[in-house]
Amino acid sequence: TSGKTGFCMKKLFAHRGMSTLAPENTLAAFSLCHQHGIKWIECDVDILSDGTVVVSHDDTLDRCTDHSGSLYDMTQADLTEIDAGSWFHDDYIGEPLPTFEQLIELVNQHQLNINVEIKSCTAGWEMTDKLLTNVTSGLEKLDSERELIVSCFNHLALAEFKRRRPQTQVACLFESATLGDDWQSVLQACEADYIHPEDEGLTREMVESFKAAGYKINVYTVNDLARANQLFNWGVDGVFTDIAHRFPSKYKQS
Ligand code: G3P
Ligand code: MG
Repeated sequence: TSGKTGFCMKKLFAHRGMSTLAPENTLAAFSLCHQHGIKWIECDVDILSDGTVVVSHDDTLDRCTDHSGSLYDMTQADLTEIDAGSWFHDDYIGEPLPTFEQLIELVNQHQLNINVEIKSCTAGWEMTDKLLTNVTSGLEKLDSERELIVSCFNHLALAEFKRRRPQTQVACLFESATLGDDWQSVLQACEADYIHPEDEGLTREMVESFKAAGYKINVYTVNDLARANQLFNWGVDGVFTDIAHRFPSKYKQS
């Protein structure tokens, strides 16, 4: 932080968009980031049976739409029937389940930066492989000025993504704050720049050991301002939050 201007290099990621103000992972939720001065968004991407990449945290429609069933049984044509907003609030009736292509257009238009989280693909390696291919080609439409981080809990998939698109900075996601004994080999195999650990149980000592190994750290999901401040003081580089609009404005510029 430069004391004079109050400008802050810490990253604030709007987790699934402004996900407490609008339905998560929709264009409405990502548009609000722009309106609130948030520069970084986090989105989850998965794949339909025809290879279309969509923005969705879950691999089923059940929680966040007016339909049910697996994404892997759908095609792009089915998206016109899906309402991904009414579950959240009547104001969002008719909000579509977005394609990755639509989100990239919005990111370019609003000059956002983006963390694309590639989902785990419970449908098997064949679909994971197709997801990696189609995410990679989708990213060709991202303006070169936009900043990008690609992350994944599946480190084999992430290593394969990095092999195909070495110019992209990648982040290993971990299910908890404790990374496992082989964490350094995992990060090296992925040529990762970032560690994305869970917040719960993360200590100053852990943060210091990750920093000492040369990694940048973005922590999920931090919905408490005092905790975010503590993490930043320990040297954490960024936090994912559902309440980005409630953070001080100095965090909204980078
Ligand atoms: O990318 C950070 C965070 O989104 C990972 O967990 O389950 O919210 O996608 P999840
Ligand atoms: Mg996510």
